[in-house]
Amino acid sequence: MWDYNPKVMEYFLYPKNVGEIENPDGVGEEGSLACGDMLKLTFKLDKDGRIADVKFKTFGCASAIASSSVMTEMVKGLTLDEAEKITNKDIVDKLGGLPEQKMHCSVMGMEALHAAIANYRTGKGKPTKKAEGKIVCTCFGVTDKEIEKVIIENDIDTVEQVTNYCKAGGGCGSCRGEIQQIIDRICGKKDKVTETHTHPKKLTNLQKIQLIQRTIAEQVRPLLKTHGGDIDLIDVEGSKVIVAFRGMCSQCPTAEFTIKDVVEARLREFVSEDIIVEEQIV
Ligand code: FES
Repeated sequence: MWDYNPKVMEYFLYPKNVGEIENPDGVGEEGSLACGDMLKLTFKLDKDGRIADVKFKTFGCASAIASSSVMTEMVKGLTLDEAEKITNKDIVDKLGGLPEQKMHCSVMGMEALHAAIANYRTGKGKPTKKAEGKIVCTCFGVTDKEIEKVIIENDIDTVEQVTNYCKAGGGCGSCRGEIQQIIDRICGKKDKVTETHTHPKKLTNLQKIQLIQRTIAEQVRPLLKTHGGDIDLIDVEGSKVIVAFRGMCSQCPTAEFTIKDVVEARLREFVSEDIIVEEQIV
């Protein structure tokens, strides 16, 4: 169970402005059911060009409902120029905070709002889902522009944080290197991950185990926690690393995929290329 503050719980349990406006002036959609959450926003303007009514429909978790709900309250009565200035940080501040792993819900709210405004301005009359930039994360359809935006607006500087804010990197993990490059470019850093994980050519057993533990703690665990899971290192026998999944990961039908494409891939990258990861058989 996520640790939500009372205000988030209030907006989740008693959401405001739920539904869909008939013949709206603007419609915006963000997310997709394949990614686990989706938001549709519709609004109507008054004669002065201010948002007179706004409603949302979402398929998402408590934070998605709370973020959308509070955002609709924030934009009522604003002009589109004013509404467009609202960032996901404003939404989170208004809610009094969200768990770090749920920040992507506030980003989805902001993007649906921006998409609905863009829809009104282009007069297309159909929901717009912008795809500006180049897709970096194919698992979640996130572009380099979207990643740059969350890094700049939220002052973040790790791949895990990017995953928390926009989901990029939270699937197969193959885009994480590219996300790190975007972070380095924007933050003006050198390759932090490579630098901090540079390991000696020949590791002693103790160094190897320590590096495995560190890689699991920094590169694997935060990723699994995003989905309510966890992992423990059980043993190391030569190049064989035995782990046990915990939480949601222990019942996950794609655990085999996670072992190979996430755990083993990270350990091969940061510890040694001959590592084989196996799940503990109980
Ligand atoms: S491509 Fe980004 S997580 Fe798979």
